[in-house]
Amino acid sequence: MHTYLDWVPFSLISLVLVVAGWTWVNTWRRSKISLHHVPLSYPQTAYPEVKIPGVGDHLAALVNQKVPSLAGPEARLHGVWWLPGGNAQTLYTSLSDFSDVDTVTYQRYGLANVADGGVIAIDIAPPLHSHPVRDGETIILIAHGLTGGSHEHYVRSAVNALRAPAERGGLGARAVVMNFRGCNGSPVITPKLYHAGSSDDVRPIVLWITHMFPQSTIFGLGFSLGANVLTKYSGEEGEDCPLSGVVALANVWDWCRGSQYGLNGNLANRFVYRYVLADALRSLHHLHRHIFLSSPSSPLPVDLLEKLSKMGRITLTDFDNMITSKLYGFKDANDYYTRISSVKVLDNLRIPLLGINSKDDPILGKDNLPYTEASRNPWFVFATTEVGGHMGWFERQQDGSLKRWYVKPVKEFFSALLEEGLPQRHKPAFTINDQGMVQQLGNSSVAFREVEPESLKLFTSRSDDTKLYSGW
Ligand SMILES: *[C@@H]1O[C@H](CO)[C@@H](O)[C@H](O)[C@H]1NC(C)=O
Repeated sequence: MHTYLDWVPFSLISLVLVVAGWTWVNTWRRSKISLHHVPLSYPQTAYPEVKIPGVGDHLAALVNQKVPSLAGPEARLHGVWWLPGGNAQTLYTSLSDFSDVDTVTYQRYGLANVADGGVIAIDIAPPLHSHPVRDGETIILIAHGLTGGSHEHYVRSAVNALRAPAERGGLGARAVVMNFRGCNGSPVITPKLYHAGSSDDVRPIVLWITHMFPQSTIFGLGFSLGANVLTKYSGEEGEDCPLSGVVALANVWDWCRGSQYGLNGNLANRFVYRYVLADALRSLHHLHRHIFLSSPSSPLPVDLLEKLSKMGRITLTDFDNMITSKLYGFKDANDYYTRISSVKVLDNLRIPLLGINSKDDPILGKDNLPYTEASRNPWFVFATTEVGGHMGWFERQQDGSLKRWYVKPVKEFFSALLEEGLPQRHKPAFTINDQGMVQQLGNSSVAFREVEPESLKLFTSRSDDTKLYSGW
């Protein structure tokens, strides 16, 4: 005779099996990576612009063949069970201490953007004094997120992976990290910082790279706000873009729709991110308030700055309405978002660009992504992951450590492009005057002078004392 007790172990085992099976299926489903691009079947003749000189027939075909972490059987991103969901991955990026891993020694240069006298600090790894300029170097120009800098772990993990020699799985490249004005010790000497469309500060840096490394191949790598800046720059330059390729990670693409989601998306947006991001910017402006207060030409009146520091919680849109638009001459936040969104220039892009976003990015959501643009511009391949959050993309390694997954596709993409034997891109020609000012021929507002940076010429990323929110 069976008592109901006999059924208990059976039900328990079934339950465990069902839960394990469900977890397995769910984990597998969530590790999926999707690629979006023009159809591979487009015949060359019907779509002549698909033929990319030096990149075989098709950028999308190249990615499908040569970037195994995005296409093919290996293309999976297994998240970390104790970082479930986009919020956990995002917050871990921001709150965790990475000061002991992926340390980098940079050499710092200061460049004055002659157009307005403002200074940008650029950090070079490996340093030039220990690794002098070689012919035919690969240079990776890196732009960081909202209030970050070269010290951020998300930047350092890419720098280390890309600069490693080919024998150790790297590219043997040199990184040039731009710190936006006021970020990470980049000195502020004019009443102007930067905004999400500050491509005017990219041009003098590209000119510096051209001047310093005449035979180089230059790639761009942008994170979040920096991805928007580099994408916007590449689109604006169109055919003449000196970069041979760009990877845009966690780009916001469309700031109008992105800001809507950022404010109202879900609970975390309504209660956390909308304030955290604005606070990071507010702290940055507070740090540099003396420049705005002491400068007669400051577009920010003293009472406005006082009001800003006394206000309670403010959102990113409040900040952009009050400060960003005043400072850079936009009508309001909406006008600013419309004019600086990189999604607008994607159709004009004529260099290989790989965009990667996570569909669980809690800051921009999954409905503001440039699928349409990727389906019509053959220069643009767009990949989405299911997990990763906003610039987290943590993946567990065999030894139990966490690694940034995106380093793999970035490396594979650049190395696939290099293997194609890319033609030298058109580099800006320049003149140098007696005072050491380097000026671009054809656009006299692009010019720089090297200046002595205030901070150490050589520093290790561990000496990070910027007390700002980071990781965005
Ligand atoms: C010249 O450079 C300025 C400053 O970077 C930029 O705003 C402008 O678009 C450039 N003009 C052309 C024709 O490229």
